[in-house]
Amino acid sequence: MKRVFLETYGCQMNVADSELMAGVLERAGLTLVDRPEDADAVLLNTCAIREHAEQRVLGRLGDFARLKARRPGLLVGLTGCMAQHLRGRLLDHARVLDLVVGPDAYRDLPDLLRRAAREPVAVVRPDRDETYGDLEPRRAPGVRAWVTVQRGCDRFCSYCVVPYTRGRERSLTLTEILREVRRAVADGHREVVFLGQTVNSWHDGTHDFPDLLRAAREVEGLLRIRFTSPHPADVTEGLVRVMGEGGAVCPHLHLPLQSASDRVLEAMGRGYTLARFRDVVSRLRDAVPDLALSTDIIVGFPGETDDDFERTEGFLRETRFDGAFMFKYSARPDTRASRLAETVGEEEKGRRLTRIIELQQSISAAMNDRWIGREVETLVEGPARRNADQLYGRTPQFKAVVFIDDGTPAGTLRRVRVTGATAVTLFAAACEAGAAPPPPLSG
Ligand code: 5AD
Ligand code: SF4
Repeated sequence: MKRVFLETYGCQMNVADSELMAGVLERAGLTLVDRPEDADAVLLNTCAIREHAEQRVLGRLGDFARLKARRPGLLVGLTGCMAQHLRGRLLDHARVLDLVVGPDAYRDLPDLLRRAAREPVAVVRPDRDETYGDLEPRRAPGVRAWVTVQRGCDRFCSYCVVPYTRGRERSLTLTEILREVRRAVADGHREVVFLGQTVNSWHDGTHDFPDLLRAAREVEGLLRIRFTSPHPADVTEGLVRVMGEGGAVCPHLHLPLQSASDRVLEAMGRGYTLARFRDVVSRLRDAVPDLALSTDIIVGFPGETDDDFERTEGFLRETRFDGAFMFKYSARPDTRASRLAETVGEEEKGRRLTRIIELQQSISAAMNDRWIGREVETLVEGPARRNADQLYGRTPQFKAVVFIDDGTPAGTLRRVRVTGATAVTLFAAACEAGAAPPPPLSG
């Protein structure tokens, strides 16, 4: 048992967890391979946020069942939120699955793999103290590094399975996080994204989230700092201030709204009213020049009426987010909302979803058009996917930019002038070399 193939589903937290697992496995002498055909064990790091996510994984398990039929020694394991969520029920798939590991047991992965070679293993006990703060993830090379600062969630929004799969909120210490940031920079990363389920509620007993941003801003060689996802109710004056100070802290915030109806927000247990959310947005926009805002919306929550939905549409029009992730409500076992009768049929959910996706598409396009003619600082990430003659990078607002390859190396800043835009991409031309000095690393 030497070679492991690891496949990741779901959110950035899972991507970061896979990097954590890769670090644990490699330190134990195991090798990560790129193809399941080359592996002695395959691990699926899974997501349980919506039913659709689980169905994709179950489909993929079918592929591995067939692979295993050809290679009987192959171990198949499932990690992440689905492992935790379905627990014992998953061993019903025991003909395929040898291993089920919840998000708090990754430290023991090498040992569990060894045990699974002898008998099926399931470890899904939550560990409210586990932060993995002392472990070193093996990060994929690239400009951006994902740095987990907090695990779990205490908010228990009524629709959400995360508090059940990832357990109670706990934070890594400032020292542990800064060590990871420095290590990421030493490994060549130029941007960090702090990750937590309600990342702005991070605190380590002594320091709060604005302290963390200020401390990270001082790390030499780190060009950009982002974080996701903040909870609207935890946006403090201190956070608004530190974002307004700028420096490496980017003018970009993903602030999940979910619904613009107070009735629905209340039923979701979100902990804020629309007025409060609107106030947070206006304070942020006042303090942070050119702030880009994105959000998450759920349509078809139990009890959502036409009027509730139209409030959400109206608020999207009013607020003009740069982008939004929009979802149909999906009842998740264990959650409070799963006990509510569903009042919005599948077809109506689909209709509402299409309507706001189309609306947001036109808003995103208009928001991007506003950049045409302006100069932006692009952190170059590498060749553009669609066109090898072009480079791809991101603006501080996290907008994707492509421009003709002028030899700017990945990981460096390049000033470009925006010449065109779609809802998802800015097109640009490089400005005269040396036209503007790079921004200071901190401040
Ligand atoms: N159904 C639909 N969408 C959901 N989300 C979380 N739980 C559910 C659910 N049960 C969405 C929320 C959250 C994003 C990560 O996923 O919008 O912000
Ligand atoms: Fe889920 Fe709400 Fe926690 Fe986000 S804040 S992870 S939506 S319970």
